[in-house]
Amino acid sequence: MSTGGRPRVLVMHPILDPGPAILAEAAEVMAYPADRPLDEASIRRAAEGCVGIVSQLMDPIRDTVLSTPGLRCVSNVAVGFDNIDIAAATARKVMVTNTPGVLDDATADFAFTLLMAAARRVAEADAFTRAGHFHGWAIDMMLGQDVFGATLGIIGIGRIGRGVAHRAKGFNMRVLYYDPQPLPREAEEQLGATRVDLNRLIAESDFISVHVPLTQETLHLITTPQFNAMKRNAILVNTSRGAVVDEAALVEALNAKKLAGAGLDVYEREPAVHPHLIPMPNVVLAPHIASATVRTRSEMSAMAARNMATAVRGGRPPNLVNPEVKR
Ligand code: DGY
Repeated sequence: MSTGGRPRVLVMHPILDPGPAILAEAAEVMAYPADRPLDEASIRRAAEGCVGIVSQLMDPIRDTVLSTPGLRCVSNVAVGFDNIDIAAATARKVMVTNTPGVLDDATADFAFTLLMAAARRVAEADAFTRAGHFHGWAIDMMLGQDVFGATLGIIGIGRIGRGVAHRAKGFNMRVLYYDPQPLPREAEEQLGATRVDLNRLIAESDFISVHVPLTQETLHLITTPQFNAMKRNAILVNTSRGAVVDEAALVEALNAKKLAGAGLDVYEREPAVHPHLIPMPNVVLAPHIASATVRTRSEMSAMAARNMATAVRGGRPPNLVNPEVKR
């Protein structure tokens, strides 16, 4: 559990400054061995004797890991925590923390980046130009879709969804949103956002941007019936979790031209990308970087480190996902 009285914390992957210094003040930091695979049994072995694990979204933290004797806290360096079995953590009285808030703007910016890139064929145009295919202006070259004044459907109107709606105002977009939890009327008015059911959002939107966590309820929320109901010019943007969208159904729908394109930052089986998406020129692909700005990633690191340091010192970390473990 500790050497020389200092509690040990396992850090699965390096984090950014000032995270390491915050952790080092509170605990003896053990780095996860670089050559060890990220399976549960290996993580469990590495966590032996540790009171805390600083994990990231690719680390499977399920009951095998959570059963480590003396483990008190798992601090995930992400706002999403679908890589952690929260019920098992709660049953074993292990606190789980995340990093909400600090990545909202970077993620909303990137959702808009993908939307614009897919609408205006930026990745395709870049590849075309670099390949030396630009032989002169042409009236019908690389025609894309208008963003200004188009209808944007936001699925999930949490902090990031609201950030996307905020940005859409600058593009004079008509904003629809779907969320079981309605926004207060003043927020709807301020954002110019109208709550509709999922069917209407799907049927009326030119752009659809997904901002829900991955849960049993949201797994494959967007699948064949939704693709069948989309406008043929629709562009789907996903910066949440890959499995909210049925990737095989997306490929089928794109092949059948049920929608015009997609901007994807997340995938169902990361880091694998569905092989049929790779050659599609109307799909913009990014490697899960929506929160990847210097400031945001360093704030996420600091927040995760502070969550862990508080837990190690016996306190109640500020961003506790399972508050029932520590009242
Ligand atoms: C998260 O935090 O959940 C993102 O996917 C990575 O920043």
